[in-house]
Amino acid sequence: MKERTLAILKPDCIKAGFAGKVLDRILQAGFELVAMKLTKMDVKTAGAFYAVHKERHFYGELVEFMSSGRCVPMVLEKENAVEDFRKLIGATDPAEAAEGTIRKEFASSKQNNIVHGSDSPENAKLEAAFFFSEAELIQNKN
Ligand code: CMP
Repeated sequence: MKERTLAILKPDCIKAGFAGKVLDRILQAGFELVAMKLTKMDVKTAGAFYAVHKERHFYGELVEFMSSGRCVPMVLEKENAVEDFRKLIGATDPAEAAEGTIRKEFASSKQNNIVHGSDSPENAKLEAAFFFSEAELIQNKN
């Protein structure tokens, strides 16, 4: 059964000019675009998106980074999308990411790691709804 995941091309990806290359890797891996936009999160929005990490030592810097420039959130569809996308991007820390993964190739640090991917189908739904209206998610189906 087809599943959806929420991905974000992070500000480091956009600033470095990697958006096209990373999107191509995603599409070549068989993910279909359901919704996509270019946006800039303010501190409040980035803080809300990563609220689950509020107590972590890196939260402040993460919010600063994610609100430092434009990003590209997108909803992707594929069988087993959540797990397959996380395999495609690799470990959070590029130093630990497997060869051939997007983070291994493009990311510079654990924080500036180019791309976000939902960690479960439940969170994918919540994260998709964070950036896209129900109408956008329904109307763009097929
Ligand atoms: P992401 O997959 O978007 O989920 C949470 C983000 O927090 C992660 O990617 C990194 O950008 C960041 N992050 C996770 N762990 C650390 C860490 N130890 N130090 C700095 N940033 C981190």
